[in-house]
Amino acid sequence: MPGDGIGRVVMKEAIRVLEAAGFDADYTEGDIGWDFWCKEGNALPGRTIKLLEQHKVGLFGAITSKPKQEAAAELNPELKGKGYVYSSPIVGLRQHFNLDTCIRPCHTYKGNPLNFIRRGAEGQIEEPAIDVVIFRQNTEGLYCGVEWSHPDGIVYEALNSHPNFKKNFSHIPREEIAVSTRIFTRKATERILRAAFEHASINGYRSVTLCEKPNVIRETSGMMYKMAKDLQPEYPGVELWNTNIDAQMMWLTKNPEDYGVIVAGNMFGDIVSDGFAGLIGGLGFACSANIGEKAAVFEPTHGSAPKYARYDIPIVNPIAMIESACMMLDHLNEKVLSAKIRAAIAMVIQEGKVRTYDMMKLKGGPDVITQGAASTKEMGDAIIKKVTRDG
Ligand code: NAI
Ligand code: MG
Repeated sequence: MPGDGIGRVVMKEAIRVLEAAGFDADYTEGDIGWDFWCKEGNALPGRTIKLLEQHKVGLFGAITSKPKQEAAAELNPELKGKGYVYSSPIVGLRQHFNLDTCIRPCHTYKGNPLNFIRRGAEGQIEEPAIDVVIFRQNTEGLYCGVEWSHPDGIVYEALNSHPNFKKNFSHIPREEIAVSTRIFTRKATERILRAAFEHASINGYRSVTLCEKPNVIRETSGMMYKMAKDLQPEYPGVELWNTNIDAQMMWLTKNPEDYGVIVAGNMFGDIVSDGFAGLIGGLGFACSANIGEKAAVFEPTHGSAPKYARYDIPIVNPIAMIESACMMLDHLNEKVLSAKIRAAIAMVIQEGKVRTYDMMKLKGGPDVITQGAASTKEMGDAIIKKVTRDG
């Protein structure tokens, strides 16, 4: 599912690298994204869902989405006024397949000029090696879409039955109130916690850090913390650490190398994973997996960057997409191949001869190539050269 814009550009490189590494697969293209919204009134056509039901493993590039009114304006004139409403196809995929486990690894590549650096106690420059994997609950919490503006009727009554609501909000006119709920279920919470502990235990991480706010958000974060404490004894080699999301964002730049696996609900997982991604190179390096019981979809966390989509020579960094493909290989237990590709990426970065514009800290534009930046394809070529060097 290459999708839109630079999604198509980086997907091409990922497939080339997978093939060069010797991954034996057939690829079927799944339609997804803006063109299908405009043409068919559905950014996630039913045939794409069927394909994924059949094949169970998907690589996703990126899609373009636009606010409601802009989306409606670009719809095929024949479909206008017929009740079509735009919704995000990647959110749709996560919901349809219950892709409830989101995994976002953030690790430093030696020699990446975008690595986080800080000053030590003696004023010396330090470049800590970060190796963090964030497990984010992907389907519930504050992003579950159970929300109201101007709550009325039984919804209002239910809210008003809570003493805190009664005390603090019942004097406020209903039309001035908006409510978004934060729903956690035991099943999904246990699945994300177990996934985090399993990953830590199998891969030798010393700790799982629960990054929530149990002292304040007592029912949801509190439940998650209690469940984490109950589960930890099943994983004796892994410690459970508990941090609050706000404090964690402060510690992010203080001691990021101390963390291993981090687990959080939907929104805090989203926040903390972007925070860590910023320390290891940003969007060009941030990969992810969305895993459910029946299907899995692997994607870079960046979007379709429409302003760079139609360059004659594409300039964006394909590494986030290629790393996402490596996560797919891990999922399929093709770990020798994923290790080979990651080693190739590491060599290219460490040599420092081939760098896309983001790695050179240039402002994106067609002229970055003349300023010495590698194109998307040149980065793909450099990785392929290393992948195939020793067969
Ligand atoms: P974006 O991630 O597409 O781009 C933001 C900026 O990050 C770009 O202008 C570029 O400077 C940089 N960037 C992104 N990917 C890069 C790469 N591989 N290499 C180097 N630099 C890179 O986010 P933006 O501009 O907020 O959204 C553009 C469109 O993408 C919107 O329609 C948005 O809805 C959609 N989007 C889709 C996502 C998805 O498909 N999962 C996620 C985020 C946004
Ligand atoms: Mg995000």
